Amino acid sequence: MRKKDFVSIKDWSTDELTRLLADARAIKANPLKYSRKLEGKALAMILEKPSLRTRVSFDVGIHQLGGFSMCLTKDEIHLGKRESIRDVAKNLERMVQGIMIRTFGHENVEKMAEYASIPVINGLTDFSHPCQAMADYMTILEAKKSLKNIKIAYIGDGNNVAHSLIYGAVRLGAHLAVASPKAYEPNPDVVKWVEVNAAATGCRLEILNDAIAAAEDADVLYTDVWASMGLESEAAKRKKVFRSFQVNDALASRAKQDYIFMHCLPAHRGEEVTDSVIDSPNSIVFQQAENRLHAQKAILLTLMA
Ligand code: CP
Ligand code: NVA
Repeated sequence: MRKKDFVSIKDWSTDELTRLLADARAIKANPLKYSRKLEGKALAMILEKPSLRTRVSFDVGIHQLGGFSMCLTKDEIHLGKRESIRDVAKNLERMVQGIMIRTFGHENVEKMAEYASIPVINGLTDFSHPCQAMADYMTILEAKKSLKNIKIAYIGDGNNVAHSLIYGAVRLGAHLAVASPKAYEPNPDVVKWVEVNAAATGCRLEILNDAIAAAEDADVLYTDVWASMGLESEAAKRKKVFRSFQVNDALASRAKQDYIFMHCLPAHRGEEVTDSVIDSPNSIVFQQAENRLHAQKAILLTLMA
């Protein structure tokens, strides 16, 4: 059955995700072929947190497919305060053909998807960032040609980005080593889900508290900010806790010589990553950012065409 929403990678099968990645690469190779596929269709983008990449890539992406978008910020709609999520969903489904939403609680996206008859896309919640992970796996495929026999080391907070990378690793059969300080590991429910589902694709997930062990012989070094949006008040404390999880030259020297460095961005240079690593020839962070556009065009087409 055709999926209505893109809320979590774990809701999508290996075959469906593999097809999305192939579509994304085909769209990147030949964008003009798809320029009228969503002609006249409107995407509402609800953004309750700041955004550069997500906003621009969805806006440009839907436009390149023949459609258009509008941005609804927190101050404009006051989701759940001025109007309930259900009422927002019931209004929007009468006027637009898709909703992308970036919000705090993951349940807000789930509710929007439940109440709206039109596709709902998760543009980041406190819990997950599935569009990011799709662009990330697309980028690893481009750089390393395969997701098998590749060690991906995610070093840092067990956050939204980590959760979506984990779900993607399971569905796509990747080897992912996650190293976080104690008490900042990924959500235990996510890890439990992996234990049940990893064998089906040959995924290997390591949850570690040692950045060096994760980086050892890695093909990919990935990091993200230590304090995500909404956790600004914890930033000072986290700077101390995460100090030994910085991706710097010493840590990178543990990885394979041809390792690639990835970061969902925005980066806090000098915290989770040094300039020497993010600006090195190994860094593919801007290719990764560009792939948000292509990966999300594949998602938009799959859901809205
Ligand atoms: N990586 C990412 O989602 O960037 P923005 O927060 O700028 O959208
Ligand atoms: N973990 C980060 C990702 C930003 C794209 C955050 O939630 O702020």
